[in-house]
Amino acid sequence: MLHGPNLNLLGLREPGIYGQNTLDQINSLLSKEAELLGATVDCFQSNHEGALVDTIHSAHNSHQGLLINPGAYTHTSVAIRDAISGVAIPTVEVHLSNIYQREAFRHHSYIAPVAIGQITGFGVDSYRLGLHALVNYLLSLNSGDSLGK
Ligand code: DQA
Repeated sequence: MLHGPNLNLLGLREPGIYGQNTLDQINSLLSKEAELLGATVDCFQSNHEGALVDTIHSAHNSHQGLLINPGAYTHTSVAIRDAISGVAIPTVEVHLSNIYQREAFRHHSYIAPVAIGQITGFGVDSYRLGLHALVNYLLSLNSGDSLGK
C-alpha cells in the first residue's frame, strides 16, 4: 500500500472531504482486512515523488500487487505511472474522495491507464474495496480466470 503526499495529514486535513480517520487507522484496517483475505500488506507513505518511485521499483520481486493512493501525484506524475508500468505489478488506484466530482484538474489520472482499475469516492471503504479487488484479481490470475482482460 503506497500513500502519496499529504495523506500523512489525514484526520487533520479537510475532514469534510477526506474524513476523520488517520493514516494509522487506515493502515491497521488494511492489515486486518488482509488477514481475513489470507494476504499481508506493507504500508508506506511519502510526500516525495522519487521515494514513491523507488518504493515501486523495490516492490518488484517482493510484492505481488500494489494498492496506491497517489494523492496529488495522481494528476501530475508521469514518473509514478512509468514506474508502475516498468515493474508491471498489478495495481489498483484508490481515492477517498470522488475525484470526478471535484475540480477539473482532479479529473485526469496519469495512473488509471496503467492500473487494473480505480476506486474513488468511498472514503476509507475505497481502500478496503481496493484491497479486495486486488486480491481477487491476483487469485484469478493463479486460477487461470483472466476476468476477460
Ligand atoms: C485524493 C484526491 C487527490 O485529488 C488529492 O490531491 C489527494 C487525495 C483522495 O484520496 O481523494 O491528496 O487522492
